[in-house]
This record gives sequence, structure tokens and C-alpha cells, in this order.
Amino acid sequence: MNPLQTELCGLKLKNPLILASGVMGSSVHSLNLIAQDAGAVVTKSVSVGGREGYRNPTVINWKCGLINAIGLASPPAVEFAEELKDYTNESPLIISLYGYTPDEFRMLVETFDSALPYPHGYEINLSCPHVSGAGYELGKDIELSAEIIRAVKGSTENPVFAKISAMHDYIELAKALEGVGVDAITISNTLRGMKIDIVSRKPVLSNISGGVSGGAIKPIALKCVYDLYKEIEIPIIGCGGVTSFEDVLEFILAGATAVQIGSAVYYSRRIFYSLKESLIAYTRAYECRIDELVGAAHDSVNG
Ligand SMILES: Cc1cc2nc3c(=O)[nH]c(=O)nc-3n(C[C@H](O)[C@H](O)[C@H](O)COP(=O)(O)O)c2cc1C
Repeated sequence: MNPLQTELCGLKLKNPLILASGVMGSSVHSLNLIAQDAGAVVTKSVSVGGREGYRNPTVINWKCGLINAIGLASPPAVEFAEELKDYTNESPLIISLYGYTPDEFRMLVETFDSALPYPHGYEINLSCPHVSGAGYELGKDIELSAEIIRAVKGSTENPVFAKISAMHDYIELAKALEGVGVDAITISNTLRGMKIDIVSRKPVLSNISGGVSGGAIKPIALKCVYDLYKEIEIPIIGCGGVTSFEDVLEFILAGATAVQIGSAVYYSRRIFYSLKESLIAYTRAYECRIDELVGAAHDSVNG
């Protein structure tokens, strides 16, 4: 019996490690490679019409992680759906969607549901911090976010996750989305930040500011998971700064059913393999299954 096997909203995951949206771009080839070891993979966020994104530089490799303002560059949904037909399906695929209105999200779900021959999930991007009118700005409006989730849930049988931000009023937002039937909450996206070049005396990113990811945001994302576990019943997917198996365990003990990994893939394509092997060793040493540990840090506080 695989001690890492996890169930997430009806999806069977061989382990709780999920590729976070965006870091591997929009190529199905990269998703196929990561899916060999990851429990699930999330695509780059995609919209109805696609977007060119910002001009370079769009990603800074900073000492505690990355700062990016790619600007949600992606192909149009119909084109991307065609590419995803070559997904090998070694792990469940989650398609990350962004848009501006409930209708657009409904159209996106219909496009992928009619094109893809295998079951899949959706992650609704309510949290990208650097595109005006999308992502984070939608999540700030709790009513609109709830309307988007209602529209998506009404159009698909596949599981739907909402990806929100530590910068949101995340407890209130997550409770509202749970109330309209979202299947899981992913928290967090990148958090707003910037870097200035001291020689040119200008912001480095072409968009001036971007989203900070990696080690710098881990304690913040971890606290969000811990807080949400006390407030909602649906599964939580932790995301932010995971680079080691200890980080994965912290998120699970805080209450995450699964954990997403983004920036760490930038440094090592083998990260999923090495995390998985270390987690297996941990479960053997402590004679436990990974899903028994979800939220266990709360027991020690309460008991
Ligand atoms: C280069 C890059 C591109 C990203 N693109 C997306 C995206 O398209 N949609 C999204 O929801 N999150 C996107 N993210 C955010 C990640 O999915 C993740 O939420 C964030 O990086 C925190 O996780 P990490 O610290 O493990 O990287 C991107 C992050 C990076 C670094």
C-alpha cells in the first residue's frame, strides 16, 4: 500500500505533491514530465482569448525565491485545449483558468470539458497580483468571486478549486466560496513585491512590481492554511515556498490535504522525485500514512 496516496475531491493522487500553476509554462511536454512523479499537475492559467504578457524582464531570481510579473501570458483556450489532448494522464490534470467575468469562466470550462477525453479538475485563479481586472482583483470582490464559482460549478461535473491569496481577507472569502459549492481552496498565489536596480536606479521588472514566491512567503502561506483549517470543511491545498520535505509536512500538519510546488521546480526538475522519496522514508520511520497527518498540528494545541 502506497503510504503517500491521497484523495482530493474525488481525484486519486499517488502523492500529495502538485505542480503549481505557471512555473512550467504552457507546454504539455513539460506537464507530462512532471506528472511522472507529481500527484497532480496544474497548467499555466489560461483565458478565452489568451494574452501576450509583459515585456522582459519578467522573472527575477532573488535570494529568497523569485519575483515575477509575466502578466498571465498564455495561448487562447481553444488552442491550449488542443495541445492538452497529448497529455499522458499519469497524474490528474488541473486546468488553471483566468478571466474577467462569470460568463468567461463558464465558456472556459465548456471549452475544456468538450475537448478533453479524460477527467480533470479546474483551478480558478482569483489571486494573480499583477494583472488589472483579473486574478487578485476578482478575489477582493467576494460577491463576484462567489458568482464566478457558481457559474463554473453549474457548468461542469469536474472538481473546482479556487486559488486565493494571503493578501485577501482569506477566511471570509474561503467561507463564501465554500458556501457556493467550491470543492477546495488553494492558498496562496504570489504576494506583491519588487526589486530596484541600484545602478540604473530603476525597478528591475518591466511591470515595476510583481509577485514574490519561494522561501520568503512560506511562513505566511503556512499560517493561512492553519487559519483556514479551523474555519472550513472542504480540503485546503497549501502553496508557497515549499522546497523541502519538511516544508511539505508542515503544510500537511497545518491542515493541507495536498501541497503545491512552484518556484522550487525552477531550481530542480527532480524536486518531485526527491520530495516523494523523503516523504516515503518519513512515513516508514513514523509508521504512518500521509493522509493521517492532515491537521495534526491542531491536535497538539487542542489536546
Ligand atoms: C514564473 C511564475 C509563473 C506563475 N504563473 C502563475 C499562473 O499562471 N497562475 C497562477 O495561479 N499562479 C501562477 N504562479 C504562482 C504559483 O502557482 C504559486 O502560487 C506561487 O509561485 C507560490 O508558490 P511557490 O513559492 O512554490 O512558487 C506563478 C509563479 C511563478 C514563479
